[in-house]
Amino acid sequence: MKASETKATLSFSNGGQNVELPIYKGTMGPDVIDIRKLYAQTGMFTYDPGFMSTASCESAITYIDGDKGELLYRGYPIEQLATNCDFLETCHLLLYGELPNATQKAGFTKLVTNHTMVNEQMQFFLRGFRRDAHPMAIMTGLVGALSAFYHDSTDITNPKHREIAAIRLIAKMPTLVAMAYKYTIGQPYMYPKNDLSYAGNFLHMMFATPCEEYKVSPVLERALDRIFILHADHEQNASTSTVRLCGSSGTNPFAAIAAGVACLWGPAHGGANEAALNMLHDIQKAGGVDKIGEFIKQVKDKNSNVKLMGFGHRVYKNYDPRAKLMQETCKEVLSELGLENDPLFKLAMALEKIALEDEYFVSRKLYPNVDFYSGIVQRAIGIPVPLFTAIFALARTVGWIAQLNEMIGDPEYKIGRPRQLFEGSPKRDVQPIAQR
Ligand code: SDX
Repeated sequence: MKASETKATLSFSNGGQNVELPIYKGTMGPDVIDIRKLYAQTGMFTYDPGFMSTASCESAITYIDGDKGELLYRGYPIEQLATNCDFLETCHLLLYGELPNATQKAGFTKLVTNHTMVNEQMQFFLRGFRRDAHPMAIMTGLVGALSAFYHDSTDITNPKHREIAAIRLIAKMPTLVAMAYKYTIGQPYMYPKNDLSYAGNFLHMMFATPCEEYKVSPVLERALDRIFILHADHEQNASTSTVRLCGSSGTNPFAAIAAGVACLWGPAHGGANEAALNMLHDIQKAGGVDKIGEFIKQVKDKNSNVKLMGFGHRVYKNYDPRAKLMQETCKEVLSELGLENDPLFKLAMALEKIALEDEYFVSRKLYPNVDFYSGIVQRAIGIPVPLFTAIFALARTVGWIAQLNEMIGDPEYKIGRPRQLFEGSPKRDVQPIAQR
């Protein structure tokens, strides 16, 4: 970052001393006012619940322009990556800052492929769960449990440890998600196969059984690979900020990523894809397109607590570019599967059209986000609804670890420790119980 000529001057109406605050510019996007010295100079904190106006760090990984609906990974537009690259190339880009050439791609792919198996002991963690456990409950446990197996790579101050932990996490997430799925349907786990692609291997571990091979459809393989690319990273969202804050204590990367998994589960965040599909199912069951008006009315009624899941975003005040690409992927997969008339997809497009013409959504700049269509394409691929967020976590792992490594790799990083505006009781003395 570089200092800008302009400074910010904070003045106080009670005649307090003015405070000069430096302003810094990044490559793109809003400048920042550096308030690090504010408390020392004024004895006051800033106040920004939900971090609506706060930059928590500087980063070179992902840039979002919410007004333009633009998303860049290391400068490359998501539209170009989703059509010209595959997920492992995108992982290389996010981790190392550059797209790989053919030799680098082959080496990186081999590295990831050779780390897809998990320790045989991992399977015993699943036995403690009920068979109907939510896959995200299982994933939160399994990812944290990985830290018990890799004592050789949990020193995050060692760049080599950080790199091998990144490779292990990217490589093993598909295996763990497939194990979580197999456990809930009572089928045996399938081992990864090294002759399959990253997405193909995941489909194999999900849908093959010891009795029957699963023939990977290139269309589904490509669609899933694109879904992974679209979910790979997204600046300082809630789960990425959780990973950074967790990692800032110096804990091992597996524990920090497990914290990200737990945060992503929420319906306001990664859990929205599951919630969006359930919402479409409910409208379908209630009568389909004819019931959209009634549903929208409910959404606008604040007391209903009903939200249009898969809509709205803290940053995008325009169409989420990932939602557009996801809708295209929906069309490709549904037509490939002969499901062009999939009622849920038609319902989703009708719902989107009506919402985007409704003043309530237009005035609040609520557009479809990445979660609105992702459930429809995953359902078409045969992925069960409760697994959608686990697949989001699978794909986002590379973003989490790239952001964590960027933070830890900065010698200036400190443990994150926000303060508060205290509104509790003033100091008082404990009374003996007889007098309470
Ligand atoms: C993800 O941050 C990221 O980058 C996240 C993510 C990523 O890749 O990491 O992009 C992934 O989490 C996408 C978002 C998925 N969540 C959902 O689809 C759940 C539904 N969306 C909302 O919960 C909401 O839009 C949020 C949480 C996404 C954003 O909330 P904000 O920024 O805090 O906005 P807000 O709740 O203050 O909403 C502003 C207004 C409010 O109305 P008013 O108080 O002005 O009257 O818009 C309304 C909200 O009630 N509103 C909605 C709505 N989203 C916001 N009303 C109906 N349906 C919605 N979906």
